[in-house]
Amino acid sequence: MSVALVGAGPGDPGLITVRGLELLRACDAVVHDRLVAPELVEEAPEGALRIARDGLSQEEINELLIALAEDGLEVVRLKGGDPYVFGRGGEEAIALAEAGIDFEVVPGVSALAAVPAAAGIPLTHRGVASQVRLLSGRLAAGDPDWESVRPDGATLVLFMALDELDRICGELLVRGFAPTTPAAVVSRGTLADQEVVVAELSVLSEAAAHLRSPALAIVGDVVAVRERILARPLVGVTAR
Ligand SMILES: C[S@@+](CC[C@H](N)C(=O)[O-])C[C@H]1O[C@@H](n2cnc3c(N)ncnc32)[C@H](O)[C@@H]1O
Repeated sequence: MSVALVGAGPGDPGLITVRGLELLRACDAVVHDRLVAPELVEEAPEGALRIARDGLSQEEINELLIALAEDGLEVVRLKGGDPYVFGRGGEEAIALAEAGIDFEVVPGVSALAAVPAAAGIPLTHRGVASQVRLLSGRLAAGDPDWESVRPDGATLVLFMALDELDRICGELLVRGFAPTTPAAVVSRGTLADQEVVVAELSVLSEAAAHLRSPALAIVGDVVAVRERILARPLVGVTAR
């Protein structure tokens, strides 16, 4: 009886790790997130339990993982991107540790870098940006810590920010970001229907209003590097 918290990658099923796929193909039960590629859920053995976590609270998911493991099953908890990047993987790991259940964490390809890369945007680029700051547009306990966000050259990567983009861009402008700061929103990154909108910060939310979830916003000078990267054909990275 054990649980593996497995990162499924950002959407493209080819972006799961070899270790993650190995565990998935050998499990007795898979408990999966909504954003996980359906092709990956299909990789579980024919007789395996397949449980979508939709509608379950975090507490209920924790209890489910513990109950399945205590029933003697090898469980894969398949999570979007990386389990520990805005994925509540830490909460699940703590619950398993406290219940005395053996578990392993298999890192995943996070949307953090994969989604910008799929859109032709490097998060850091020599001479342009050497720091990256991650923000969530939706925090359980309220707003991001805006006081710590300033225009210091770091690339900002905004998760779960699509619905609040107007307000978030407004906060950045109030905090001294130039209205002309290059910015982008990547919708459904790495998937066949990926869409990318590039705009100056002051008009980003308007330009991205039609995009669908999941979407990631990137703010900073690295966005402008995209033009140079896309001037050449990309190998191994999709950019539309
Ligand atoms: C709950 S967080 C999970 C992040 C995940 N653990 C990771 O490491 O990528 C979900 C957010 O990640 C971003 N995201 C995940 N997959 C994405 C994709 N394929 N394209 C764009 N954004 C994505 C969006 O901001 C979405 O609202």
